Amino acid sequence: MCGIIGYIGQRQAQPILLSSLSRLEYRGYDSCGIAVASSGLEVYKDAVRVEALAKVLLQLDGTAGVGHTRWATHGEPSQVNAHPHCDCNGNIAVVHNGVINNFQKLKQQLISEGHSFVSETDTEVIPHLIEKYYDGNLEKAIEAALLDIEGSYAIIVLMVGEPKLVAARRDSPLIIGIGDRENFIASDVPAILDYTNRVIYLEDGDIGVITADSIKVRGEGTEVKRKQHRISWSIEDAQKAGYEHFMLKEIHEQPKVIRDTLGRYLSATEPVADWAMITDTGLENILILACGTSYNAALVGKYILEELVGIPVRAELASEFNYYGQALARTGAIAITQSGETADTLKAIKRLKGLGGKVVAIANVVGSTASRIADQTVYTLAGPEISVAATKSFTAQLMALYWLALSHSKLDISRRDGLITGLRRLPGKVQQVLDSEDEIKEGAEYLSKYKDVFFIGRGINFPVALEGALKLKEISYIHAEGYAAGELKHGPFALLSSDTPVIAIVAQDNTYEAMLTNIKEVKARGSPVVALAGEGNEAIGELVDSVIIVPQVDAIFSPVVNTVALQLLAYYAARFRGCSIDFPRNLAKSVTVE
Ligand code: F6R
Repeated sequence: MCGIIGYIGQRQAQPILLSSLSRLEYRGYDSCGIAVASSGLEVYKDAVRVEALAKVLLQLDGTAGVGHTRWATHGEPSQVNAHPHCDCNGNIAVVHNGVINNFQKLKQQLISEGHSFVSETDTEVIPHLIEKYYDGNLEKAIEAALLDIEGSYAIIVLMVGEPKLVAARRDSPLIIGIGDRENFIASDVPAILDYTNRVIYLEDGDIGVITADSIKVRGEGTEVKRKQHRISWSIEDAQKAGYEHFMLKEIHEQPKVIRDTLGRYLSATEPVADWAMITDTGLENILILACGTSYNAALVGKYILEELVGIPVRAELASEFNYYGQALARTGAIAITQSGETADTLKAIKRLKGLGGKVVAIANVVGSTASRIADQTVYTLAGPEISVAATKSFTAQLMALYWLALSHSKLDISRRDGLITGLRRLPGKVQQVLDSEDEIKEGAEYLSKYKDVFFIGRGINFPVALEGALKLKEISYIHAEGYAAGELKHGPFALLSSDTPVIAIVAQDNTYEAMLTNIKEVKARGSPVVALAGEGNEAIGELVDSVIIVPQVDAIFSPVVNTVALQLLAYYAARFRGCSIDFPRNLAKSVTVE
């Protein structure tokens, strides 16, 4: 996720901006830059680390400036795509965090009005819009520009000749740091904590104007007073936004991740991927390749695509495909990888391409190796995932799969519209799961005392059982296995006893009755059962030992709410056991060896 900082005061801005940017490095970034106002605007930026940028910088003379660490979403990491971005005359510098959904339309309009663009970013439309509307009043020009923008943003604007910084936010956080004859604006607390611990949190729709000696906030057109807060966090706490672990922070980011990822797809003016490229291969099926959690997303994708598009889909482990699958090689494929650097997945992509296949990658890291070697890439907008255990990237991958399927489905209009409405409601449904954290925590405390746990699911929730087990084992070190519920009786029954709890994912779909039968079979062997069930299905409590209730959604979206609940379950179980949650033993975030 991008990080932003603005400074105005009595001191030289450059060293403050650079040290604040280094405090934002933990968020993950691929490029950085600063702009300082002196007689004109001095802008330095590149696809390098902050330390490397600092080394090549001349000493800039100016007491106001903005800085940015970029996590690429539109356009590869490069010098031109790095922030700050400027207007045609180089008078206005903007740093931006967020996603502008309608930037292509705005860009075309601005080009037809004589503006010229240098980058591939969505951000660059902002300084041009401000330039277009500027008639001597910077705040008014920014307000007018923001009216044109659809999407999310936290921005800071610096303009030559205007001794102030102006900031605005919608759906992306922004704070003002209050200093002594100096003030700051930042995307989050760590950026300013070396200088002040007094902050104001801007609210959606706010426009903040700061000078060295004043702070003004306008909300809905009038001046408003926002409360000051004193931060008592250490830098480390602040980087986790007050959450105890990055994993918990990332679990809680999921409503926004869904909104951002869907926002990008739903507003796309061109197809998200050229479906014909992967289906017109003479073979009427699709192959999805991935590893680990991304493979579990691939398995969910199989159900989504088969149901919505009506085409047979095979999900294969990339690491296995590399040693068989010759017969599948001449097919179209989707490769799913958060990092875009997983060695097994990259090898599978290369192998397929070498055999004449076409590959669409679903990746989270712009410019990653997968995106460079695939024929096309659909990006997820999960932002950098720091915790080793994948959480928000899985949810974002599902959004890409839903959207790929919906945009190529032959469903009737009313079913399609109903599903799109369901997708739009998902951030709220996921928030409901997050709001029931305390109830899930109780279940986790209970589980944390066991050595072995089974997760069972059916249909589209079978991969959710696999993912629930994977999350639990990797961070809590409890031995966990995910099973298709009907398979337990074909062997694993031998392990069932009062010492092996079973988590049953109960979906309100055509698998419901069969799942009830499986639960009864498990109970008859003495295992305690915890059911994960949708609202309205509280009666299942009579059959099992405890129930975790998740919001009711269309069955095809149930993997989203169920997985979020299981992520929390694993997280708290690991916490009760005192495990190293963000960096579990023996694991790495990016597995770059076979
Ligand atoms: C589990 C986890 C791993 C990754 C796997 C693939 O929580 O994070 O199983 O999902 O290593 O990684 P990507 O998606 O980067 O290819």
